Amino acid sequence: MKKITIAIDGHSSCGKSTMAKDLAREVGYVYVDTGAMYRSVTLYALRHNLFNADGSVKTAELEQQMPQIQISFKFNAETGRPDTYLNGECVEKEIRSLEVSNHVSPIAAVGFVRTAMVAQQQQMGKDKGVVMDGRDIGTTVFPDAELKIFVTASAEVRAQRRFDELKAKGMPADFDDILKNVQERDYIDSHREVSPLRKADDAIELDNSYMTIPEQKQWLMDRFKEKI
Ligand code: C5P
Repeated sequence: MKKITIAIDGHSSCGKSTMAKDLAREVGYVYVDTGAMYRSVTLYALRHNLFNADGSVKTAELEQQMPQIQISFKFNAETGRPDTYLNGECVEKEIRSLEVSNHVSPIAAVGFVRTAMVAQQQQMGKDKGVVMDGRDIGTTVFPDAELKIFVTASAEVRAQRRFDELKAKGMPADFDDILKNVQERDYIDSHREVSPLRKADDAIELDNSYMTIPEQKQWLMDRFKEKI
């Protein structure tokens, strides 16, 4: 059967990764969470004091250290999903913290960070058979992807989902802080100079505010079947 490239872009915390992971597992494709890559660079920057007091990035220092930041994914048989590794350490849990969420958008706006991440993403998807989720997959990483989806939902619905997810993992969570973070990331992600978040002209839009996960799964599977 022919293999295609699937690009799933959209706003923060709108359930993109759940949809993307489930589809990848079902059709036997590789799943790549590109947000986890920007989050890993952010965790590295936090650990190495690469933020100024005002939250901006110490770009000269970060640029120097970029070659030392190695990000990889390893399949976790227990969860059935890939875990993210930063320089050989599994950071899957650490990269989901609110501290990382609060610092990731300025990191993702840095040009040389994006260039490095995009090159690695293109390499990972070069043989097709990949479901990649992010913000710029359909516009920049794989503009020729056969199936492009742009997912969105209201900011309140997204904050509630993120809140429930953190609570379920036993991590600290405050709804108002999360809502503020979701809104701030939407703003920075859509207004940055390099690869701003926007729907590709040929992407299919999905507002999943009032859809259940099985409904989204079915919707995505139907779009996939139309393409193969
Ligand atoms: O998808 P997730 O919410 O984990 O992504 C975290 C952040 O990484 C986003 O808010 C965005 O700033 C950045 N990102 C990006 N481009 C991507 C994926 C994520 O700029 N392809």
